[in-house]
Amino acid sequence: MRKIAGTGYVRGTQRLSALCLILLCVFLPLAAQNPVGAKPAALADSPPYWAYAVDLPAGSTASPKTDDATPHHVPASDAAFTHAQVHNLFSAPDWHPTSHPTMPEIVSRGRAPDVFACGFCHLPNGQGRPENSSLAGLPAAYIVQQLADFKSGLRKSSEPKHGPTRAMIAFETKANDKEIKAAAEYFSAIRPEPWIRVVETNTVPKTHVAGWMLVASDPSATEPIAQRIIETPEILEQTELRDDHSGFVAYVPVGSIQKGEALVKTGAGKRAACSTCHGPGLKGLGKVPRLAGRSPSYIVRQLYDMKSGARVGIAAQKMRPVVARLTLDDMTAIAAYVASLSP
Ligand code: HEC
Ligand code: HEC
Repeated sequence: MRKIAGTGYVRGTQRLSALCLILLCVFLPLAAQNPVGAKPAALADSPPYWAYAVDLPAGSTASPKTDDATPHHVPASDAAFTHAQVHNLFSAPDWHPTSHPTMPEIVSRGRAPDVFACGFCHLPNGQGRPENSSLAGLPAAYIVQQLADFKSGLRKSSEPKHGPTRAMIAFETKANDKEIKAAAEYFSAIRPEPWIRVVETNTVPKTHVAGWMLVASDPSATEPIAQRIIETPEILEQTELRDDHSGFVAYVPVGSIQKGEALVKTGAGKRAACSTCHGPGLKGLGKVPRLAGRSPSYIVRQLYDMKSGARVGIAAQKMRPVVARLTLDDMTAIAAYVASLSP
């Protein structure tokens, strides 16, 4: 039987950090997610479960694997890592060391016990996973600013139970300026590759949340997509091993790509087209981030968070008039379209 995707932060081999994280998840004060008066009336629904993919509470999922001594492999790599090595938050498993520049220490190993390796979550080549974010090719100044916003509390998640974002905030903002600069320059210099295959469909595999993402249920079955995006690993085993060459498929509702394109080109009705700020092909411009080819779950989370008032950094204010008029279905269509673009 297919077990839970072994990606949970609380199952890292660094017991101490794992414990800290569990404690954090339980005890971190659920600081107000919405600044006073910032919540627009139109966003009544709760955060969509499929975009935030909140994992089961630690301990209620599958027990950790015990085959720690077994070396695992992925295609096109000579490397071998045990399960324990793959889940070490202070050492990003680097399956393809020649396919990206040399990682600075903070990206490959972090700084124990305070800062997890950036490359563990965002992957050594910065392509990212649905529960975090692709950093490859983002403007370095933008990356630095996001760390500052996470640290100052201007950037949170609308879903306080989203463990990966809590870890990003609790641990990664302890990186010092020099480390952040090194990480920003590293990820910024990497060219993003196509990573998500977008498929319009009425019917999707039945999925459940495991390891902070949607994975196909076992025994396999299908169900209507409804107004959801189902983003899931192409090859679960490789994603579980954190292979940064094994991407994702995103099932999106039929017609959503075209609807999203119309919203993007008109700037969600009468406003400036998104490309005015996000650049031609939505590949980023100046300090404004790329949207093309990025995880649609991530994009929906950001649009939702900017609208709910959970993400209110100074630059994010530029997005407020944009998100003000978007419904969740609009966000879904926009995410489907931008994910389908070449990065
Ligand atoms: C424990 C996992 C984890 C680690 C380790 C981690 N991050 Fe993140 N990071 C996240 C998550 C999750 C998000 C997305 C939050 C959301 O969905 O709103 C994120 C988002 C970001 C973003 C925002 C990207 C964007 O497009 O706005 C930046 C920049 C970033 N991380 C940089 C870093 C750096 C630099 C490090 C290392 C110092 C790091 N992260 C380590 C989990 C992690
Ligand atoms: C007036 C300029 C402007 C326009 C127009 C604009 N954006 Fe943005 N957008 C920004 C800026 C600036 C940021 C970065 C915010 C920050 O630094 O926190 C951003 C961030 C985002 C993000 C988060 C990206 C990330 O990496 O986390 C998304 C998603 C996004 N915009 C989508 C859109 C879409 C879709 C449209 C059109 C419907 C659009 N934007 C139109 C300026 C703009």
